[in-house]
Amino acid sequence: MIPPKPTSRPNTISLWRYMQLFRKDILSAQPERLYGAWMAEFKTPFFRSYLANDPELVRQILNERPKDFPKSDRIGEGLRPLLGNSVFLTNGATWEHQRRIIDPAFEKGRLSHSLPAMWDAGQAMVARVTRMIGTGQEIEIEEITSHAAADVIFRTLFSIPIENDIASAVFHEFRRYQRAQPILNLAAFVPLPGWMPRFHRADTKRAAKRIRSLITDLTQKRMQAINDGIAPDDLATRIMTTPDLETGETFSVDEMVDQVAIFFLAGHETSASALAWALYLCATHPDWQTAIAEEAKDLNTPKDVKRLITSRDVFRETLRLYPPVPMMVRETTLPETLRKRAIPKAAQLVISPWHLHRHTRLWENPDAFDPGRWKMPESKPSIRDAYMPFSSGPRVCPGAGFAMAEGPLLLSMLLHDVAVSPVPGKTPEPVAHLTVRAKDGIWLKAKPR
Ligand code: HEM
Repeated sequence: MIPPKPTSRPNTISLWRYMQLFRKDILSAQPERLYGAWMAEFKTPFFRSYLANDPELVRQILNERPKDFPKSDRIGEGLRPLLGNSVFLTNGATWEHQRRIIDPAFEKGRLSHSLPAMWDAGQAMVARVTRMIGTGQEIEIEEITSHAAADVIFRTLFSIPIENDIASAVFHEFRRYQRAQPILNLAAFVPLPGWMPRFHRADTKRAAKRIRSLITDLTQKRMQAINDGIAPDDLATRIMTTPDLETGETFSVDEMVDQVAIFFLAGHETSASALAWALYLCATHPDWQTAIAEEAKDLNTPKDVKRLITSRDVFRETLRLYPPVPMMVRETTLPETLRKRAIPKAAQLVISPWHLHRHTRLWENPDAFDPGRWKMPESKPSIRDAYMPFSSGPRVCPGAGFAMAEGPLLLSMLLHDVAVSPVPGKTPEPVAHLTVRAKDGIWLKAKPR
C-alpha cells in the first residue's frame, strides 16, 4: 500500500490557477514532473524562484557556499513579530555568534542530559492516551503528538511539564498564532505580494506579543535562578551559561527570549508532525508496528533509546516520506550560473526535501514506505545525496540529534502500550501548513495492547 501523497496538478496551467492552488496547499500546487527534475523555474511576474533538486546543486548552496546563499529576508517577514532576531531568521555575524552558543548545548554528550525529561513526557503521553481510549476508540493523533512534543520542549528546556500554567498558556497561544499564520518558511516562494498571508494582522501581532511576554517571564526567572546558583541543569541553563568562545559573551535575556521562541516553534511543530505520521504509517503497516512493540519490551530506562533500531528506521523512513519542513528557501547574492542557467541576483532558490526524498531518479520505489531500505547497502547513495529532513551544512537543524532521540523514544513508548489501526474512510491528506500536516487531522483507532 502506497501511503498518501498529494495529487499533483497538471504539468501546464495558467499562473492564475497556480496561484489559486498554491494558496490552498503548496505541495499539491506543484506538477508531477518535479519529482523527476533536477531544476525548475517558477515564473512569476514579480520575482524569480527556482527549485534546486539536483544533489550536487543542493550541496553547493547549503554546504559549499552557504554564505553566498543566505536565508531570504522574506522568510522573516511573517515570523519576526514572534521570533524577533532568533537564530532561525538571522544571517552573517549575528547568526554565527548565536550558533556558537546554541550548538554546544545540543552536542551528543550533552544530549543525554535531556533523555530523562523526554522519558517523563513520553510516560505522561502514554498515560493520557490510555485514559482517553478506555478499551478502544478513534482518536485524532496530531492533537496528541502536538501536546506531547510541547511537553518535551518545556521539560527539556525549562524543567516544567506542559501542565504548568505558563507552559500551557504558551502552548495555547501558539496554536492560535499558527492558525493565523499558516506558512512557516515559504513566504519567499509566494509569487504575488498580494497573496502573502496577512502577516502583521493585529490579532497575529497581539498573539506574538502575549507569547513573548510569557516566555520573557520564564527567561527572566531563569536568569535570576542562574545568578542565585539554584538553576536546574537543563537546556535553558546550559544555553544561558555558555559563552561564545570568540567573544566571551553570553546571551542577554532579550536574546534568549528570541531563541526560546524558535526552540518552541521549530522543536515542537516538527516533532509533532513526524510522530503523528509515524503512527499513521505503523497503523497501516502492522508488521512494522508489531516489530516496534516487540523491540520496546526491552525499553526500561531513557538510555535504552540507543537500542531502538527498528523504531529509528521507521522514524527515518517517516521523515523521508513526510519531511516536516517540506521546503527551504535561500537567496542569491550575486548573478549565478547554476546547471548552465543564468540566475539573477536576489532570486529565490527553493530546496525541497519533499521532492528530493521522493525523487524518481534517486530512490528505488520512492513513494513506498519501506523502513528496511535503511539497512540495505544499495540505499547508501540515495541516503547520502537525497535525504535531508534536517537540512545540511552549517545551517543544519541544531535539534537533529535531539529529535532523533525524541521521535523513536516516544513512538516506542506509545506502541509498547497501545495498538493503532487505520479508520476506514479517513485517509489523511498531506498538506503543508507550518509543517506537513494532514488536512483534516490523522484519525486512528487505538486500543490497549
Ligand atoms: C523532526 C524534528 C525536526 C525537523 C524535521 C527539523 C528540521 C529543521 C530544518 C529542515 C531546519 C532548516 C530550516 C531552514 O534552513 O530553512 C531546521 C532549523 C532549525 N531547527 Fe529543527 N527540526 C526538528 C526539530 C528541532 C528541535 C527539536 C529543535 C530544538 C529543540 C530544533 C531547532 C531548530 C533551530 C533553532 C533551527 C534554525 C537553525 C539555523 O537557522 O541556524 N529543530 N530544523
